[in-house]
Amino acid sequence: MKVLIVASEVFPLIKTGGLADVAGTLPKALIAKGCDARIMLPAYPGIVDKLVDVKQGPNLGDPYGFGEVRLLTGKSPENSTPFWLVDSPHLFNRPGGPYLNDQGRDHHDNHRRFAILSWAAAMLAQHGQLMGWQPDIVNTNDWQTGLVPAYLRTWKQRHPPVVFTIHNLQFTGMFSYQQYLELGLPETEYRLEGMEYYGHFSMLKAAIQYSDAITTVSPTYAREIQTPGFGCGLDGLLREKADHLSGILNGVDYGLWSPEEDTLLEAPYSVKSLGGKTKNKKALQKRCGLEITHKKPLFGIVSRLSEQKGLDLVHRIIPAFVEKGAQFVLLGSGDPYFEGEFKALAANHPDQVSVTIGYNEPYSHLIQAACDFFLVPSRFEPCGLTQLYALRYGTLPIVRATGGLADSVWEGGPDRPQTGFVFYHSHVDDLSYAMDRAMTLFSSPKLLRQVRQNAMGQDFSWDRSAQEYLGLYERLLGRSLSVLE
Ligand code: ADP
Ligand code: GLC
Repeated sequence: MKVLIVASEVFPLIKTGGLADVAGTLPKALIAKGCDARIMLPAYPGIVDKLVDVKQGPNLGDPYGFGEVRLLTGKSPENSTPFWLVDSPHLFNRPGGPYLNDQGRDHHDNHRRFAILSWAAAMLAQHGQLMGWQPDIVNTNDWQTGLVPAYLRTWKQRHPPVVFTIHNLQFTGMFSYQQYLELGLPETEYRLEGMEYYGHFSMLKAAIQYSDAITTVSPTYAREIQTPGFGCGLDGLLREKADHLSGILNGVDYGLWSPEEDTLLEAPYSVKSLGGKTKNKKALQKRCGLEITHKKPLFGIVSRLSEQKGLDLVHRIIPAFVEKGAQFVLLGSGDPYFEGEFKALAANHPDQVSVTIGYNEPYSHLIQAACDFFLVPSRFEPCGLTQLYALRYGTLPIVRATGGLADSVWEGGPDRPQTGFVFYHSHVDDLSYAMDRAMTLFSSPKLLRQVRQNAMGQDFSWDRSAQEYLGLYERLLGRSLSVLE
């Protein structure tokens, strides 16, 4: 089966969050199952140099006057995963990140940039036989690829089925009617039953409206987004589409995230021999200038600093927990307000609290390995990957019961051994109580070791998730190919 995965970020080429991890690993897992999976990504600066075997592909012309669009092909040097790059220098070859310019603001023409990414994927889906490779299935991801099914649907020809995976419903890809008019989409589809969204145009809504199937990254989030509290104004539409909507929990690339093999750690360790974990803790305390001790529980956070992640709760209780003898290490970036607040806190407690603002992949591995507990108190969390990594490193996650956090961490029960701590309300008292339970466990080394072993024994490998995606693709292909009204 030929599968095209379209995404705006893919690890290790370019990453701002979990989407990149998923888009980098799902294709590998599908290939391992015998699929011919390929990834489509914009040719951001430097991407071409990170691939091997790069070749010029077809020139797709300049459909809407934003500059010429070419396709390039290449392979990842690590595992030969094939790539299609959308090369449109005018749109993608510029300073800044995939979404923000070097001033930290949205690129002014994101509607054009991601319309062209989507358009190029739709062209390959529709006319791939002329370009040497046509997918049987297209799996798009988040709003940046939301127009793939919109183009295919409005071109009114038979086309491969499109799966749309929602990694975060909060980002709706919202633009104005004037911007909509630039993108070659019919004016008749700018309506409530089409792509219009509260007086604007939403690329996310377009994807929900026109895809053949919608997935999201955990079963709980698939249910949550059908309610007003989590639905971002799209819960009604998602309830209408409930028969086409399912949740497939993300997996972990244990090739990258395993304490036995992780070369980014101070010392490797395993479920059978946990000694290395203490060495990592010491190394981290040293690196951060914290008091070096194995007697204090160390709580870690690696996160985008945004409202979603609920870190304001953590911020409010850190002083009380420092009093109780806890230490904290945070690595994150995002909202300048949170950055400032956390930095001030670290300045007040330099021996017990360390805050690093920035993005640092290797350092995130050391934090995962060195800490005793890992905090993910999110208000909502479609899946969450850091708690899955923390489980494997025996760093017990403390999570709020929402989305993928609720589907992956348990505090015990008749048929599930404890792997972490779960609280229910986004409230300091609830988080505080969960952290107290963690502190109590920390003071019983034997019990702590048992729970660590439970956590490290969990299997969230991609193999299971990829099998579920494959099952969905097969069901879609079993139906007749999408035909347009
Ligand atoms: P989200 O995608 O919502 O940010 P996830 O938990 O799904 O949350 O994925 C976040 C990914 O980004 C993880 O791989 C995590 O380790 C990584 N990450 C987040 N912040 C940082 C940071 N400041 N430095 C390094 N890695 C980070
Ligand atoms: C999004 C979500 C996160 C999820 C990730 C990968 O960024 O916020 O919960 O794990 O996508 O699917």
